[in-house]
Amino acid sequence: MSEKPIAFVDLAAQRRRLEGRIEAAVKRVIGHGRFIMGPEVAEFERRLGAYSGAAQAVTCASGTDALTLALMALGCGAGEAVFVPGFTFAASAEAAALLGATPVFVDVEAESFNMDPASLAPAVEEAKRTGLRPKAVIPVDLFGRPADYDAIAAVAEDAAMSVVADAAQSFGARYRGRAVGTLGRLAATSFFPSKPLGCYGDGGALLTDDADLASIVRSLRVHGMGEHKYDTRRIGVNSRLDTLQAAVLLEKLAVFDEEIKARQTIAARYGEVLKGVVRTPSVVNEVTSAWACYTVLVENGDRDQVAARLKEAGVPTAVYYPKSLHRQPAYADFPAAPEGLPVADRLAGQVLSLPMHPYLDAETQDRIAQALRQAIS
Ligand SMILES: Cc1ncc(COP(=O)(O)O)c(C=O)c1O
Repeated sequence: MSEKPIAFVDLAAQRRRLEGRIEAAVKRVIGHGRFIMGPEVAEFERRLGAYSGAAQAVTCASGTDALTLALMALGCGAGEAVFVPGFTFAASAEAAALLGATPVFVDVEAESFNMDPASLAPAVEEAKRTGLRPKAVIPVDLFGRPADYDAIAAVAEDAAMSVVADAAQSFGARYRGRAVGTLGRLAATSFFPSKPLGCYGDGGALLTDDADLASIVRSLRVHGMGEHKYDTRRIGVNSRLDTLQAAVLLEKLAVFDEEIKARQTIAARYGEVLKGVVRTPSVVNEVTSAWACYTVLVENGDRDQVAARLKEAGVPTAVYYPKSLHRQPAYADFPAAPEGLPVADRLAGQVLSLPMHPYLDAETQDRIAQALRQAIS
């Protein structure tokens, strides 16, 4: 008998669990017909805020838009520097570049894969020397693990700039007792389907304790609307979370805590069964990960060959990211930290993400570990 196929992210397993509830929720929205900013959006924002610990939750059309709206609300533009880790997805730097600001790339820590505060400080000095005004820093919680916000906030405070957390991958994680929604002046998250809290399309949100900023974002996401639809106070965008997606997310949020716990158990088990095979990710004191991805380092051997062997053995993997962002053609001309980004460059050649989702059973995990052991040897 052939073995059952392994999913990289098994959304079907989650759907089987929630099927009846999600279908009923979608049917309710189709029934009431308020597809734009319907009651489910307000209800989801209320529950999202409560879950994340943030006083204000403002949903929008994607995680990328959440970052853009955050920088727009801060008034970010030309002549200003926005510091971004080099080892991340394009969206983290996109908003700054689109608004005419200058993304400045910072190296990452070898252990956490997140922005290295020791690379941030000289990058800020260098940016100032070249005439840029530091405006914001965007720490990215890569693979679900929060960046070192206290150390980054100290550098940000010295430079009088705002911290905008890119929590696209980390919703559900905690940093020193704080939920990710409370890290940074604003935190942006994504509900892309494969994210820990994913919808059935695109979606995103901004979380903040700052009521004034939240109110600006609420205006910006509807064309800069003021008192009513045809009172236009600022140049905005069209970026709302669909009511249908909010309805789906309400059902998923109800089981989210359980799913995060399951991810944590699975990650701990991966750590045990892969000991001595590859470098496994660690979480340090007082930090928990949402385990959006489980990413190992292939330090001895050719990562791409290992991935190819795993594929042959029926184990899907992914490489996030094969090239760091400051090396990508679109971003290569933007400034970087004066010492360069040697860690980001090295990680791009070694990272390998294994199947990870809350419904990964122990038997499948053992198959993955066994295939990885063979692929490495
Ligand atoms: C680190 C990071 N930032 C931003 C985004 C953008 O989110 P979205 O795809 O919802 O626009 C993503 C995910 O795609 C991401 O992984």
